Order: sequence, then C-alpha cells, then structure tokens
Amino acid sequence: MPHTTISPSQLFWGNMVVLMTTENPDGSPNISPMSSAWWFAHRSVLGVLAMSQTAQNMLRNKKCVLNLASQDMTSSVNLLARTTGVSPVPDFKAAMGYVCVKDKFEHAKLTLQESAIGGPPRVKECKVQMECEVVAWTEMMADLPDKKGVMLSFEVKILKTHVLDEIRLEGYENRIDADKWHPMYHVFSQYYGGGEKLTETSELAKIDPEMYRAVVE
Ligand SMILES: Cc1cc2nc3c(=O)[nH]c(=O)nc-3n(C[C@H](O)[C@H](O)[C@H](O)COP(=O)(O)O)c2cc1C
Repeated sequence: MPHTTISPSQLFWGNMVVLMTTENPDGSPNISPMSSAWWFAHRSVLGVLAMSQTAQNMLRNKKCVLNLASQDMTSSVNLLARTTGVSPVPDFKAAMGYVCVKDKFEHAKLTLQESAIGGPPRVKECKVQMECEVVAWTEMMADLPDKKGVMLSFEVKILKTHVLDEIRLEGYENRIDADKWHPMYHVFSQYYGGGEKLTETSELAKIDPEMYRAVVE
C-alpha cells in the first residue's frame, strides 16, 4: 500500500497528560494541562506556549511541578481544558472557546498539596508529582521571524519525585510497578489509556484542529 503525503495541522501523536502547577505573581497557584513533555534521566523538556500564564510563571520564578494525570482523571483535565490564567484571554485562545479562570484548583475540583521544597503546590489527586527547577529555556521556531518565541522549550531538573505507594514495585524502595501505573494520554485531542479511548468526551476535541495552523505555519 502506498503512503499518502498529508499536512496535519498538529502532530499530537500521543503523549502523557501532565498537570503543570506554577506560582502566579500574586503567590496564588496555576494549573495547566499539557502533553508536550519528554523525559531523560532526571530531566524533562517541556513545550509551552509563551502566551500562557504557565510559561510566564516559569520564566519569572524558575519553578514548576509536573503532576502526572492517570486514566481516572479525565473529568479534571476536561474542566481545565480551554481555561487560562491570563486575563484578558488572548484572541487566539478566545477564538477556541478559552475562558479565564483564576482559581483552577477549585474550578477543576482538585486538592492543593503543599510543596515539600518551598515551590508551587502539588495536585494531591495525581499519583505522581515531580517538583522541578527550570535550568534552561529557548525560543522555538527561531528560523521563522514571525513565529520566533511563540513556543518555548524549557529544560527542567527534577528535584523531588513523590508517588503513591499503590504504584510502587513491591520489595523495592525506588521502583515503579509498570503494571500498576496507568497514565492518561493525549492523542490528537482525544484521551487514551492502555490503547483504548477513555469514555468521557474530550473537551479539547471541541476545537477545530485547523485552528492550530495559526501557531505553526
Ligand atoms: C490534554 C491537553 C494537552 C495540552 N498540551 C499543551 C502543551 O503541550 N503545551 C502548551 O503550551 N499547551 C498545552 N495545552 C493547552 C494549555 O492547557 C493552555 O494553553 C492553557 O490555556 C494554559 O493555561 P495558562 O495560560 O493558565 O498557563 C494542552 C491542553 C490540554 C487539555
């Protein structure tokens, strides 16, 4: 069978959903769902829109927590989808139906858990929480003068990892039981887990995928 050359508006092939917590200028917490994250040793690289409150918070105080969403957290992710801590909502996001929400913990019915190291709070419902420090960042798409800096790439150092005992490998102090950890994935605006589409309808899927072209082309 031949391949067909196509031009997808986005390349959301499938990544874990992370609930990033950061601290706003007034000291209040922000939460943002994101999925452009990958892991290598005790580092992670994160792709974040510069217009987001999350990026601005990370640039300012160099801290964040990466709280991993599990398959039972679709309703919390849906409540956070299409929200921003930025006011007024940037035009690009307003056109996609985003609204400004100041207290995202309350909005998403999530529980704040204090940091163990004096950084932004953790999300208690997440079975995995990684407290991080920003060590480097770059402006992406620097080859396109009109897009340079629209997206930022952050390298973060993972300082403390907290997990619930239910996902630890029995008999080992520092290992995860892969059979017990069930991450939630974002695949082309839908939520997946274990290769199956999760039952709750994705809020993100209400956005016309063609709207993402404005950012990348
Ligand atoms: C499942 C999911 C994955 C997302 N992935 C990303 C991402 O990787 N990078 C990003 O900048 N925004 C991503 N977003 C969109 C952000 O959540 C959105 O920009 C949000 O408004 C950021 O909130 P803030 O402005 O309060 O930081 C994702 C949203 C959802 C629901």
